[in-house]
Amino acid sequence: MRKLVVQGKEILKGEIPIGGAKNDAVALIPAALLCDNQVIIDNVPEISDINALSEMLTFLGAKYYRENHRIIINTENVVNKEIPENIATKLRASYYFMGSLLGKYKKVEISLPGGCKIGRRPIDLHLKGFEALGAKVYENENKLTILAEELKGADIHLDFPSVGATINLMLAAAKADGITTINNAAKEPEIVNVALFLNNMGARIRGAGTNTIVVKGVEELTACTHEVIPDRIEAGTYLILGALVGDPIKVTNIIPEHLEALIIKLKSIGVELEIEENAITVKGNKSYKATDIYTGVYPGFPTDLQQPFLTLLTQCHGRSKIEENIYESRFQNVTYLNEMGAKIKVTNGSTAVVEGPTKLYGEEVVATDLRAGACLLLAALIAEGETEIIDIEHILRGYEKIIEKLTNVGAKIEIREYN
Ligand code: EPZ
Repeated sequence: MRKLVVQGKEILKGEIPIGGAKNDAVALIPAALLCDNQVIIDNVPEISDINALSEMLTFLGAKYYRENHRIIINTENVVNKEIPENIATKLRASYYFMGSLLGKYKKVEISLPGGCKIGRRPIDLHLKGFEALGAKVYENENKLTILAEELKGADIHLDFPSVGATINLMLAAAKADGITTINNAAKEPEIVNVALFLNNMGARIRGAGTNTIVVKGVEELTACTHEVIPDRIEAGTYLILGALVGDPIKVTNIIPEHLEALIIKLKSIGVELEIEENAITVKGNKSYKATDIYTGVYPGFPTDLQQPFLTLLTQCHGRSKIEENIYESRFQNVTYLNEMGAKIKVTNGSTAVVEGPTKLYGEEVVATDLRAGACLLLAALIAEGETEIIDIEHILRGYEKIIEKLTNVGAKIEIREYN
């Protein structure tokens, strides 16, 4: 097993380059199956979630080559077959193979997905959408079989603007007969980039990024080259770090427009940001005001950044609050933050109230999920003394080269084996 050992209270200074967005790349890779020959995708982050998806592609017979941040996927020898549980449960994004295999072969056999334990995370909206397109869904314990004689365009209304369901339905509808309208669609930037990728292959998708997406089914989808957008959640995590201990930290290769909600919040508590076209520089100081955070769908405050932001709130003067409106159980990091010296109370599972500022002290803590791990790593970097974080695979699967990037700006952090 591996743990992170972090010496706190170092002032961090320098540049942190941002990689391709995990939540974009994990959709583009399954989407590549819709292509009849070969796609090239650039700016793919080097994280374990991508390795898991490449395993699924090669299991299906696709050819997969990786050179640095470029991947080449050739689908000419793909044979549709059941994706077994041990592969599908490695991550949530395995469910995008449902949309692409259904869209291309009209048949999918796959186990229910894995992913961070931050709530129930059902996939009912995906399955209802597939049924609206003419598919039949059979569930047997953990395994799903989805079949369609033919896929016909339909008028679909999502009860909730689900990111995954919006993307999955674009994949399933791309080659359906006729026109599909996805109403109450999610508007995240990653969805826009998946639609651009599919249109690059020859799909006819309009309205991605708005709450109504129209997909005109086409006969075939062919070779193209595309690029993953910068990871706004990775970028936001490092901007929060800069607000804590930057002297200064410059976060580069980003699209500031994708970080509007975070930027507004950081400014509102007194963080000074220097915003350029593809970079933001931030310098820490110690006199931040308390604030309230309400997570919401894009362009609201991203749920994926509430856990890292909670560490910053422990250093703000006064009483702050975070209301988590997307997931039922996304405060598992609070126990460990309080053990480090924070004063946080969680009420009815969805609201955290924080008294600050509080001094944090090094402790032995557990990364319960990806963004909880990020929260605790930020806390370790500002705490007095040494912190050990176990279950770090959660962190490493979603933050490319995080040890290298932090070491390069002066952090004292290392991975150690333990049993
Ligand atoms: C994506 O998850 C991201 N994951 C999540 O990031 C992110 O938090 C989430 O979008 C919201 O932005 C990936 O892209 C791989 P949803 P997804 O469908 O698609 C409920 C991270 O840290 N829901 O928008 O699963 C669901 O339970 C991860 O990088 C249903 O009820 O998110 C949740 O409460 C964590 N039925 C809410 O909607 C459904 O059929 C949001 O889910 C689908 C979702």
